[in-house]
Amino acid sequence: MTLEQYKNAIETSNIVSKTDLNGMITFVNDEFCRIFEYSREELIGKNHNIVRHPDVDASVFKALWDTILAKKTYKSTVKNLSKSGKTIYVNTTVIPILDKNGAIEEFIAIRYDVTRKEELTKELQKKERELENLNATLEERIAIQTQELQLLNRDLEKRVEEEVCKNREKDRLLFQQSRLASMGEMIGNIAHQWRQPLSELSITLYKTKKIYMSQTENLSDHDTFLSSYNHAKDVIKKMSKTIEDFRHFFNPNRAREHFLIKDAVDEMLRIMKETVHKHHLHIKVTYKKNISIDGFISEFTQVLMNLLNNSKDAFESKHVTQREIALVIDSDEQSNAVITYHDNAGGIKEDIIDKIFDPYFTTKHSSVGTGLGLYMSRMIIKDSMDGDMSVTNNDHGAQFTIIVPQRRKNE
Ligand SMILES: Nc1ncnc2c1ncn2[C@@H]1O[C@H](COP(=O)(O)OP(=O)(O)OP(=O)(O)O)[C@@H](O)[C@H]1O
Ligand SMILES: [Mg+2]
Repeated sequence: MTLEQYKNAIETSNIVSKTDLNGMITFVNDEFCRIFEYSREELIGKNHNIVRHPDVDASVFKALWDTILAKKTYKSTVKNLSKSGKTIYVNTTVIPILDKNGAIEEFIAIRYDVTRKEELTKELQKKERELENLNATLEERIAIQTQELQLLNRDLEKRVEEEVCKNREKDRLLFQQSRLASMGEMIGNIAHQWRQPLSELSITLYKTKKIYMSQTENLSDHDTFLSSYNHAKDVIKKMSKTIEDFRHFFNPNRAREHFLIKDAVDEMLRIMKETVHKHHLHIKVTYKKNISIDGFISEFTQVLMNLLNNSKDAFESKHVTQREIALVIDSDEQSNAVITYHDNAGGIKEDIIDKIFDPYFTTKHSSVGTGLGLYMSRMIIKDSMDGDMSVTNNDHGAQFTIIVPQRRKNE
C-alpha cells in the first residue's frame, strides 16, 4: 500500500484536520466539513476552537495542549459543537508531527463520530438511574404495602374471630331457644292436663262446703271450716296461676306489662314466706323510690326468688347464723330502676365469679342446683326487660345489681 492509499483510507473513514502550532486550521477533510456543517473556506485559517462546545471545561483543553506540546499523542472522547448547534461526540486522537530536528511542525487530529454511541450510553445511564430510583422507592412502597397488608390481615383475623364468636353465641342461643320451645310445649301439655282436675277440685270443694254448711249448726265451727276452705281455694288458684305464668313465660308473643317493683317484691316475699321463716332469713327492703317498670311481673318475681334461694343455699353451706339480706330499690341519673341485692354469706370465689351467669354453672350437688337460676334470671332482665344484671363481692357477701329502664311517664 502506498502512502497515498493510506491517507485516502484514513481520510474516507475518519474526520481529519490539521492545525499549525497556534491551533489554526490548515487542513480539513470532507468528513470534517460534513459532520461540523462548515464549508472548507469557513474553516481554513480559523482557530480549531470553532467546534468547541461551551459545556467543556477549559481544563480539558489545557490537558490537550499540555500533552501535545510535550510531543505526546492525546486521546479522548470530546464533546463538540456543529455550526447549527448540534452536539457531536468525537473520539479524538491528536498527534504532534515532528520535523527532522524533532521540533513540532503541526498537529493532525483524527476523529470518529461516537455521538450515537454516547447518546445511547447517556440514555442507558439515565434509564439505569431511573431504575435505581424506582427500585429504591419500590422497596419503600413494598414496605408500606406490606405493613398495610399486615394490618389488614390482623384486622381480618380479628373479624374472623369475632364472627366465629358471634356464630358460637348464635348456636348457643338457637340451642337454648329450641330447649325453651320444647319446654314451653311440655308446660302447655301439663297445663292442659291439669286444668280439668283443678276445676274438678274446685267444684268438689264447693260441694263439700255446701254440704258442711247445711249440716253444721255451730257458727264457730263454720269459721274454722271457712278459713280452711278459703285456704284450699287459694292454693288451687295459685296452682292455676303458676301454670298460667309458666305458659306465659314460654309464649314468645306475650305482651309486656307495667308493674310496680314493690308488687313483685311483695309477691316474692309472700311466695317465699315459708323459706324465709324456716331458714331464719332477715330481709330488709328499702324503697328509696316507688318505681314501676315494663316487663313481666311473674318473671321478675322469679328473678328475686332465685336470688333469695341462692342466698339461702350459701348461708346453709357456709353455716352462717346471722343471715342478713338487703334489697334496695332506687333509680340512677338516667332514671333507670336500680335494684341492689346483697347478703352476708361470704361472697363468691373470684375464680368462678365470671362464670355464675353461664348456663349449667353450679357449685352445688346436682340434686340441689342445675346452674340455670342466674342464667335464666339474667336472660329475663336482658331479653324481656332490656336491662342488665351483674355481680360483685362486697365485704360481707355477694352483691347483685339489676338495672332496668323505668316505665316512661307517657306510656
Ligand atoms: N348469694 C350467693 N353467694 C355465694 N355464691 C352464690 C350466690 N349466688 C350464686 N352463687 C354461686 O353461683 C352459682 C350459680 O348460681 P345459679 O343460681 O345460676 O345456679 P345454682 O343455684 O347453682 O342452681 P339453680 O339452677 O338451682 O339455681 C351457684 O352454684 C353458687 O356457687
Ligand atoms: Mg340458683
